[in-house]
Amino acid sequence: MRIILCGFGVVGQSLVKLFDSRSDELYAKYGLKPRVVGVFDSKGSAVDKSGLDLYKLVEVKKKFGTVKNYSKTKNSMSGTDMLKNIEAEVLIETTASNYKDAEPGMTHITTAMKNSMHVISVNKGPLALAFPSLLELAIYNQVMFKFSGTVGGGTPILDYAKNSLSGERITSFAGILNGTTNYILTNMASGLSFEEALKDAKDKGYVEADESLDLDGLDAAAKLVILANWIMGMKVTLPDIDCSGIRKVTVKDIGKAAKKNCAIKLIASCDKELIVGPKEIPNDDPLCVNGTLNAIAFTSEHSGTQTIIGKGAGGMETASSILRDLLDIRQEIARD
Ligand code: HSE
Repeated sequence: MRIILCGFGVVGQSLVKLFDSRSDELYAKYGLKPRVVGVFDSKGSAVDKSGLDLYKLVEVKKKFGTVKNYSKTKNSMSGTDMLKNIEAEVLIETTASNYKDAEPGMTHITTAMKNSMHVISVNKGPLALAFPSLLELAIYNQVMFKFSGTVGGGTPILDYAKNSLSGERITSFAGILNGTTNYILTNMASGLSFEEALKDAKDKGYVEADESLDLDGLDAAAKLVILANWIMGMKVTLPDIDCSGIRKVTVKDIGKAAKKNCAIKLIASCDKELIVGPKEIPNDDPLCVNGTLNAIAFTSEHSGTQTIIGKGAGGMETASSILRDLLDIRQEIARD
């Protein structure tokens, strides 16, 4: 299967390492032979129609900070040009989420779909701003659109709600969908100030390059948009979310909640309204997880409430969700 990979940060690099280390098993078990024919990062690209050497790709990126130096000619092709000119079956979109205009991911995804390529995106920006129209574009062009890594990283939250609960009617859900703010709030509950907890989260590499995405609730809101569209069949985008972050939560608020055996968590919920905001959660509620963990509780008509807990981020975790989507595509193609 020929793949164009847009974005070669932690997730993209983890993915090619996964392909490289599991290539025999992927072929023997699933008949999948991923052939990465083009990779694009912010400084340049690498192209080989017969398949790039994945080990070399990672080494070049490590040494030069870009894949541009993969070949002597130093390829400057943009992701969009690559998608228009290089033949491939699948686009894997891993560039950074941007909630202003969703670029460059939006153009990558729409160009790929218009060129009859299946799309896997872990970039949340295009889905947050245009989920309903992207889904329509995929249907119109008869391509598959997969995005299981956008919510919960390696934890298959979307798949659980869509497939394991299929036939059920999910009436509401609520979850901790941002690991960074959960880490900060957990540490504030242990006595750190907001500034100290934020600094610690930054030192550990958890905080997005634009800290506002985590702290002001945008990342959680983007995930809520994806869940609301995919699980509840709503046609909503980011402006439909009533969103507030954790900047106004004080150590005093957390102390008050603790006296009631509760913790303050940034909760994304879909009930009558779509809301992201800090909320008191009883300590004995399964949703009340600590550290960088994510958790989501789905309430359905006949099956009660079920809570899924897992890591919501991480390079290898997110790469494994991409592999899951790719295997789905492989299997659906084989079925057809
Ligand atoms: N900033 C996100 C988080 C990363 O902290 O959960 C995963 O989307």
